[in-house]
Amino acid sequence: MGRCCFYTVGTLSLLLLVTSVTLLVARVFQKAVDQTIEKNIVLRNGSETFDSWKKPPLPVYAQFYFFNVTNPEEILRGETPRLEEVGPYTYRELRSKADIQFGDNGTTISAVNNKAYVFERNQSVGDPKIDLIRTLNIPAVTAMEWAQLRFLRELIEALLKAYQQTLFVTHTVDELLWGYKDEILSLISVFKPEISPYFGLYYGKNGTNDGDYVFLTGEDNYLDFTKIVEWNGKTSLDWWTTDKCNMINGTDGDSFHPLINKDEILYVFPSEFCRSVYITFSDFESVQGLPAFRYKVPGEVLANTSDNAGFCIPKGNCLGSGVLNISICKNGAPIILSFPHFYQADERFVSAIDGMHPNKDYHETFVDINPLTGTILRAAKRIQINVYVRKFDDFVETGSIRTMVFPVMYINESVLIDKETASRLKSVINTTLIITNIPYIIMALGVLFGLIFTWLACRGQGSMDEGTADERAPLIRT
Ligand SMILES: *[C@@H]1O[C@H](CO)[C@@H](O)[C@H](O)[C@H]1NC(C)=O
Ligand SMILES: *[C@@H]1O[C@H](CO)[C@@H](O)[C@H](O)[C@H]1NC(C)=O
Ligand SMILES: *[C@@H]1O[C@H](CO)[C@@H](O)[C@H](O)[C@H]1NC(C)=O
Ligand SMILES: *[C@@H]1O[C@H](CO)[C@@H](O)[C@H](O)[C@H]1NC(C)=O
Ligand SMILES: *[C@@H]1O[C@H](CO)[C@@H](O)[C@H](O)[C@H]1NC(C)=O
Ligand SMILES: *[C@@H]1O[C@H](CO)[C@@H](O)[C@H](O)[C@H]1NC(C)=O
Ligand SMILES: *[C@@H]1O[C@H](CO)[C@@H](O)[C@H](O)[C@H]1NC(C)=O
Ligand SMILES: *[C@@H]1O[C@H](CO)[C@@H](O)[C@H](O)[C@H]1NC(C)=O
Ligand SMILES: *[C@@H]1O[C@H](CO)[C@@H](O)[C@H](O)[C@H]1NC(C)=O
Repeated sequence: MGRCCFYTVGTLSLLLLVTSVTLLVARVFQKAVDQTIEKNIVLRNGSETFDSWKKPPLPVYAQFYFFNVTNPEEILRGETPRLEEVGPYTYRELRSKADIQFGDNGTTISAVNNKAYVFERNQSVGDPKIDLIRTLNIPAVTAMEWAQLRFLRELIEALLKAYQQTLFVTHTVDELLWGYKDEILSLISVFKPEISPYFGLYYGKNGTNDGDYVFLTGEDNYLDFTKIVEWNGKTSLDWWTTDKCNMINGTDGDSFHPLINKDEILYVFPSEFCRSVYITFSDFESVQGLPAFRYKVPGEVLANTSDNAGFCIPKGNCLGSGVLNISICKNGAPIILSFPHFYQADERFVSAIDGMHPNKDYHETFVDINPLTGTILRAAKRIQINVYVRKFDDFVETGSIRTMVFPVMYINESVLIDKETASRLKSVINTTLIITNIPYIIMALGVLFGLIFTWLACRGQGSMDEGTADERAPLIRT
């Protein structure tokens, strides 16, 4: 052990410390990791990201809960409806993108999102082909609303009289979801062929898609990954009253851009909602050991605020917080959307119905996103379908029913990452963790050499007497 070694250790320690601090300040490794992720999470033919976008590997479950009407006669006399929740009826969703075409530049991609539903008996309360649900006669209520708009008025009045429609009907779960031939609609369709003789809440949705999309691939900017630019050939909607409300914002909710910052607001356009909504950060979560940001739909999205005034149609006709009139995008059927059990809605909607028990854990919509990769680790999208009912003087079928937003069904569409996918994602995350921690490793080495240097220096001091003057000299001179 000579002086040379002694100085080498000292210099090395200093160098390592300076290097580590420089790397940390310049965020060299962090930037390299971010850039790699930005480059890789892009829809490019043949890439892993593209394949899992095209055919999502995780199973999505759609669970339907119906509200069975227990007191129809009393309701017609003007009393409070008593509803009993029945469910879940669980279907596995088979999703895949089809008709995929890249734009000229590779910056856009067009596709349709096909969905099919396969019943899962194990995870359901009963057989949808057998179980009966008593609920509102939605085709009849719709026809009555049409008549108010002077649409086929005489015909509808005559048909409802002749066919003795009742306001409440009993159908199987299968019929209510996937469609049944309705007497009134069949007759109306003779005069108006564009009206289908079938009615079902999910009629025509099995094995089909919700329209043509054009997305951005994320090639130009990672923040635009799978952002919708066009839906059914249009870049914005036209049924709301302000341009802001008509905007198609963000992704379809099945994917998000990587490198999410928790201060950011994420936009999604769920087409069944007929409008864009946004989600905001609420908590840090851990799903299968992976870090996640929990994003939620805040109450303000459906609140009675000036921002949402454009969703009140006809203009100025706001129903209150927590409900959305989507009649205009459902052929005039008086459909009102809300969260299940009127979660986050005005109290008067909850108290108008016996059997509504809004609960944050069961009824909120959330998504747990891995902030590094933008991968969805767990999510539950919960929407309730209601019908606006009121008494019509010219339709005796409505008796003396109260005017109200009447719950029919709600759906919980959920997804959870499986262990295998989670462990694959974990190894990616761990690799990036190691890389971004390299400066700290260098720093630790610098500290280690610094300690050795100090130890050598102390030892050198102790053994001074034994050394020659020559050996001691450099210590003093420097
Ligand atoms: C992707 O590449 C494959 C093989 O080159 C080709 O057959 C396929 O049509 C391409 N897909 C798209 C969407 O362009
Ligand atoms: C190609 O991309 C550029 C921007 O990256 C865009 O301005 C241009 O319109 C694109 N051209 C086509 C044909 O998509
Ligand atoms: C939906 O379509 C698929 C495939 O055609 C079929 O297997 C499934 O039973 C259908 N689901 C319903 C609810 O009808
Ligand atoms: C459903 O039940 C059947 C038989 O009862 C069983 O074979 C199958 O594994 C179950 N599936 C699930 C997903 O639990
Ligand atoms: C719904 O209510 C009707 C009428 O009371 C009853 O016949 C039916 O069994 C109920 N359905 C379920 C699934 O409980
Ligand atoms: C769409 O995003 C813009 C901001 O980019 C916002 O001002 C607007 O309110 C959003 N519209 C909807 C319907 O979310
Ligand atoms: C909505 O808000 C406006 C303005 O604050 C208020 O005048 C109106 O009564 C509210 N409407 C409902 C249905 O709560
Ligand atoms: C819902 O919207 C439709 C169509 O825009 C409108 O005719 C109807 O009056 C609205 N319903 C309520 C309860 O405001
Ligand atoms: C979906 O939500 C309902 C309540 O809204 C809950 O009972 C059910 O367990 C949820 N399903 C999943 C898979 O989380």
